[in-house]
Amino acid sequence: MPRIYSVIAALLFLGSSSWLGGAEASLDGSRDYHSYANPGEVRVTHLDLNLTVNFDKHQLIGSVVHQLERQPGSSKLVLDTRDLQIASVEQGHEGSWTSAEYQMGQPHAALGTPMTITLNSDASAVRINYASDPGASGLDWLAPEQTTGKQNPFLYTQAQAIHARSFIPLQDSPAVRVTYGATIYTPQHMRAVMSAANNPNAPKNGVYSFHMPQPIPSYLIALAVGDLEFQAMGERTGIYAENAILAAAVKEFEDTESMLEAVERRYGDYAWDRYDLLILPPSFPWGGMENPRLSFITPTVIAGDKSLVSLIAHELAHSWSGNTVTNATWRDMWLNEGFTTYLTYRIMEDVYGVDRSNMERVLGYQALQRDIAAKDPADQRLNPDLRGRDPDDGFSDIPYEKGALLVTEMELAVGRKEFDEFLRQYFAHFAFQSITTQDFLDYIEATLVREHPQKLSMARLAQWIEKPGIPAGAPVPESDVFTAIDKVRAAWLGAEIAADDIQTRSWTVHEWRYFLNNLPQRLSSSRLLDLDHAFTLTESSNSEILHSWLLIAIRNDYQRAWPALEEYLTSIGRRKLIVPLYKALLETDKGTATAISVYAKAGSGYHVVARNTISKLFKQ
Ligand code: BES
Ligand code: ZN
Repeated sequence: MPRIYSVIAALLFLGSSSWLGGAEASLDGSRDYHSYANPGEVRVTHLDLNLTVNFDKHQLIGSVVHQLERQPGSSKLVLDTRDLQIASVEQGHEGSWTSAEYQMGQPHAALGTPMTITLNSDASAVRINYASDPGASGLDWLAPEQTTGKQNPFLYTQAQAIHARSFIPLQDSPAVRVTYGATIYTPQHMRAVMSAANNPNAPKNGVYSFHMPQPIPSYLIALAVGDLEFQAMGERTGIYAENAILAAAVKEFEDTESMLEAVERRYGDYAWDRYDLLILPPSFPWGGMENPRLSFITPTVIAGDKSLVSLIAHELAHSWSGNTVTNATWRDMWLNEGFTTYLTYRIMEDVYGVDRSNMERVLGYQALQRDIAAKDPADQRLNPDLRGRDPDDGFSDIPYEKGALLVTEMELAVGRKEFDEFLRQYFAHFAFQSITTQDFLDYIEATLVREHPQKLSMARLAQWIEKPGIPAGAPVPESDVFTAIDKVRAAWLGAEIAADDIQTRSWTVHEWRYFLNNLPQRLSSSRLLDLDHAFTLTESSNSEILHSWLLIAIRNDYQRAWPALEEYLTSIGRRKLIVPLYKALLETDKGTATAISVYAKAGSGYHVVARNTISKLFKQ
């Protein structure tokens, strides 16, 4: 083609349907860009782990056996790995094992290293003998000092999104579901628990066996080993925790059984037998993780007054949205988190009343508005393009709160009764399957949209999913309780009343958070002292209230809070609570110096995921 024509062709291409549209067109929505695995040819259906937990070397050492389902003519199994030490690979046929050839590909910073195993035509299983790396991204090895009891070390795994591959060579895609078995060897007197059937009465003899009979995606495989005791809360619910916090945790989360019953009444039977909680040491980088049958929970929500138990409702709700119906790729995460956030509000309303759930909806909405202000428009879609990126990096409130708002809009359009029935059927229809956003759209088009063409439309859904921001006409959560807080705050800011005059005795944690989060960015030290003298905010023992207060303190160089800030950052590892504080510190030179000196002390106690996020902030 003469040069002039190719230039014109290129210009036409750029002008037509936009350049972004072109890139978007090449994105295959059904493909998992975060896994090298080839389940279309050879699929793992069951795996068995046999692992020794070595606290001296910070390694899991042992083997995994994968049972394979093969397409005719398939000859290679591709697994995901990251920093694993592979000792040997065997292939099995009717119980006899022979060695298998394998090749490790190029390591990728976000995705790890593909491992390709060449199979004989009759092989139906592979066994890999391996050890994890001491720095494995999915494992947190804690020294005794980092635990409550200070006597024994602690190990926990965190596989979501793509960290299972750092402790098991496996098909690490949420589109691949496996059942699993495990035998775990621990030091004597320590207890191992997994996202599987746990036996609280198992003797503490250093050998633990597990079985997970329901097929789950790899990101839900989980293990923890520590000085753990068990106490029942209800018939199907209980807590594993270190002895020193077990009683407090049981008191705090005693409503878990009622929550479980509340979800079942609306959305169908619980599919996972038991629902237990594991309370982790404070370095856990998340609030909670919905590992099936055994949610992993940060101790920072044990506030003494049940003020932060929506976290439990959230992890429990994932038993339906997430663990039973699962996002097929990380781009579809809003199907897990948006529906779960919606269910959380509904559970909180059922168990604690509408005032409480309305307050939580407003706080969630405000967090969403802050995230939207901070994010690239392309990442404000419900299903962003995450190709080449670590799914942990793009993490925000968008899949959670924007997703929940879309679900709320659907509920308001067709009415609660009908929508609850739709959800019940949706969970049943896709039970134990992994689905994409398109699968969801096809389903709703054939059901709810077809039944209510006047109230719902596919165009409106597309707008929510593909466009940045919150669509015009979206529901806006409101809380009468918060309206009263707005009035009091304005009166104090207008110097009509002193802090001492504010009647806060009946305020809940939600009211405090709303009061603090909506103060002006800049406040003088004397105004902050006024609040602090009246309400001892610097001494608050509630992790969320103190978080909100410390943000204000950093922005306004309120030095009285510095020791509390340092204590907070060195004793808590939950990313959502600490990262915004580091971000705020890094806004000024003086704050940067503080951030550097605190991080030097605190950093080694953080989980690698939190460390990565914070070290990226330092480099910006
Ligand atoms: N599944 C998530 C945690 C997660 C998300 C881990 C993405 C890794 C990658 C869990 O259910 C969650 O949403 N936790 C929140 C709870 C909150 C929204 C109540 C958290 O940890 O803050
Ligand atoms: Zn969640």
